[in-house]
Amino acid sequence: MTPDKYIYLHKPLASDEEIQMVGEAIRSGWIAPGGPYVERFEKELSAYTKSPYAVALQSGTAALHLILKALHIQEGDFVILPTHTFVATANPVLYEKAIPVLVDSDQGQINMSPAYLEEAIKFIISKYQTKPKAIITVHIYGIAAPLKEIKEIAEKYEIPLIEDAAESMGTFYEHQHTGTFGKFGILSFNGNKIISTSGGGAVLTHDKEKAEYIRFLSSQAKEPRPYYYHKEVGYNYQFSNLLAALGMAQIKKLPDFLQKKEAIHRYYLKHLNSVPVRIFKDFPGGGTNYWLNIMILDKHSPGEFIQFMEENGIETRHTWYPLHLMPLFEKYHYFGRNETYEFFRKTVLLPSGAGLTGNEMEYIIEKIESFFIKNPF
Ligand SMILES: Cc1ncc(COP(=O)(O)O)c(C=O)c1O
Repeated sequence: MTPDKYIYLHKPLASDEEIQMVGEAIRSGWIAPGGPYVERFEKELSAYTKSPYAVALQSGTAALHLILKALHIQEGDFVILPTHTFVATANPVLYEKAIPVLVDSDQGQINMSPAYLEEAIKFIISKYQTKPKAIITVHIYGIAAPLKEIKEIAEKYEIPLIEDAAESMGTFYEHQHTGTFGKFGILSFNGNKIISTSGGGAVLTHDKEKAEYIRFLSSQAKEPRPYYYHKEVGYNYQFSNLLAALGMAQIKKLPDFLQKKEAIHRYYLKHLNSVPVRIFKDFPGGGTNYWLNIMILDKHSPGEFIQFMEENGIETRHTWYPLHLMPLFEKYHYFGRNETYEFFRKTVLLPSGAGLTGNEMEYIIEKIESFFIKNPF
């Protein structure tokens, strides 16, 4: 049966609870940045992730930016990050005029390779006689990076580790929430994320002083005086009280979203066995929130498939194009053998939102099958 609506890749799910919480926040009169709902939301984030401190901000990008400020990353400093990521991981490095060093994945994994990471660190030390100032590891598509190995390398070279857990809220690596292994982690609550406040993000950290400094920077770096007085450049990155109320309703639903998304993953695994594709299912440390399902094509191009699905009212997308092959990044050092590019050439992301109905799932499978019937080679 054809569903009557377009099927999005990852549609946010909100209902009466969200309306009620935002309504309460409006009635409370706190229609402002910061406020009691932000404090409550931060407590919920801390409790869920077991991160001692959580600072909610306007976006995951803002969270990364203020972490770099808190680490005093400056012009000319090297910061290592994966090439397989969304540009938001790298942009804050460029805001500070620091130098991104891009590292690929290997051995069939999709996150940053520990072997290439170490190669990159050694190269920077020997060529520039300086250590990279930070390592940003990403849990791409919600799938945990090989944290044990990456953390060991960060500790060995005494380089602060930042985890970009924007896509991995709800992902635990060996029973510990992603974003809590390094010195800092970030989350995102953007419209396409597993929980959404339409826009928003947070810093996670064990470091009380740094958490306070980040909070200070996020509200224009106001000195604690009875009048406005400033010694350093600040930012307007504070989270909205109304969106925090929305976040509180969403975080309560996260366990349910996770269950539904796992069921969708299993559905794809079970029902796509008559077509020449595989669903990616290698999750280091057991870690995934099943944010987006990745389909690996053997012979067909993702472009044709995406177009066919679009014509049938279903949104599917390319996986992230590697940063090192983009004009913005091609001048920077890169370590790897184009593994992310090879991955990009044969993969697509399938609809994975927790609100997908049985009827919609059946329709998606039917359309995937008909693509391969129409395009056998
Ligand atoms: C890997 C990754 N890092 C960072 C971000 C930035 O988050 P935000 O959109 O909240 O700024 C996103 C998502 O947008 C992301 O996917």
